[in-house]
Amino acid sequence: MRRERAVIERLKQEHTIDREGLSCLLGTEDGESAAYLAQTAREAADAVYGRDIYIRGLIEFTSYCRNDCYYCGIRRGNRLAERYRLTEEEILECCRQGYGLGFRTFVLQGGEDPYFTDEKICALVSEIKKRFPDCAVTLSVGEKPRASYQAYFDAGADRYLLRHETADETHYRRLHPPELSLAERKRCLYDLKEIGYQTGCGFMVGSPYQTVETLYEDLLFIRDLGPEMVGIGPFIPQKDTPFGGEAAGSVETTLRLLSVLRLLHPHALLPATTALGTLHPKGRERGILAGANVVMPNLSPVGVRKKYRLYDNKICTGEEAAECLSCLARRMEEIGYRIVTDRGDCRRDPGKVE
Ligand code: 5AD
Ligand code: FES
Repeated sequence: MRRERAVIERLKQEHTIDREGLSCLLGTEDGESAAYLAQTAREAADAVYGRDIYIRGLIEFTSYCRNDCYYCGIRRGNRLAERYRLTEEEILECCRQGYGLGFRTFVLQGGEDPYFTDEKICALVSEIKKRFPDCAVTLSVGEKPRASYQAYFDAGADRYLLRHETADETHYRRLHPPELSLAERKRCLYDLKEIGYQTGCGFMVGSPYQTVETLYEDLLFIRDLGPEMVGIGPFIPQKDTPFGGEAAGSVETTLRLLSVLRLLHPHALLPATTALGTLHPKGRERGILAGANVVMPNLSPVGVRKKYRLYDNKICTGEEAAECLSCLARRMEEIGYRIVTDRGDCRRDPGKVE
């Protein structure tokens, strides 16, 4: 208990943690310490962002993917995955509806789908920026050459999400087929930062072979990259993948890591992810109370939502649906927070890495 307190105080005052400290906070069975960690992290978030929660409208525009990550339900090797692509008109219609609901950020997420050439992505981005000039466009379309990232940026894209998945070489190789490498993933992320994107990295919690050591590597990498956003959520097995029989990640560990990230990086944008909401009925609320400040409701057409199945049992109806944004707003109000409709940019001073 004393040890936990000391680690949390150091996080709060100095924004640092060592391996042993991380191990202590993730392993402790002392409920009071766990509650104190969450409360301290929440206070740190309140100090920067108040009680505002930012929303991002997620548009899952293609479920085709040329990659074969062992954990992912839309990997190319999954013959049972249903594939779809939205047309540009359908994507713009999602944005129009989202705009009416109050969304000022659209996240275009998809598998690495060669059908969507750089030209198509650029045309899409510039059309969205033309129709909705007060909105931010976030891309999440995987690993690309630097020139492609530059072209999307020049077309108006503001932000890019690319989870690094794990910053440990050996662990990375155990989650991905040989053609994917951690070095290339890092190259992408540093290129995105240099080009000027507000950049998001992140990882799954409880992915197979993850250890406190690999998690510590994640924290070191995040410190070095200095991203504006860090997305973490529990690993959830998808039954038609090589990891279909593995155990899901822990909600509790995810919450503790969210709190650690908040205290290490008080200005970061941290989403309470759909995966967290999938494993626990109050997962996203608990994420907010552990220091998260972003939620990303699904804006994809209802008919395709079940097909974008990265993992099983994904929440995709009722309160998760963007139409029920008022339900989400109520859920946030019940815990003392409010959804705001602005772009929700990161409040960190440019150039400063915490
Ligand atoms: N469980 C949880 N998250 C997953 N992702 C992919 N597959 C799964 C899974 N089975 C996450 C990855 C990816 C993001 C889009 O979704 O971290 O980067
Ligand atoms: Fe599509 Fe991993 S399976 S990027």
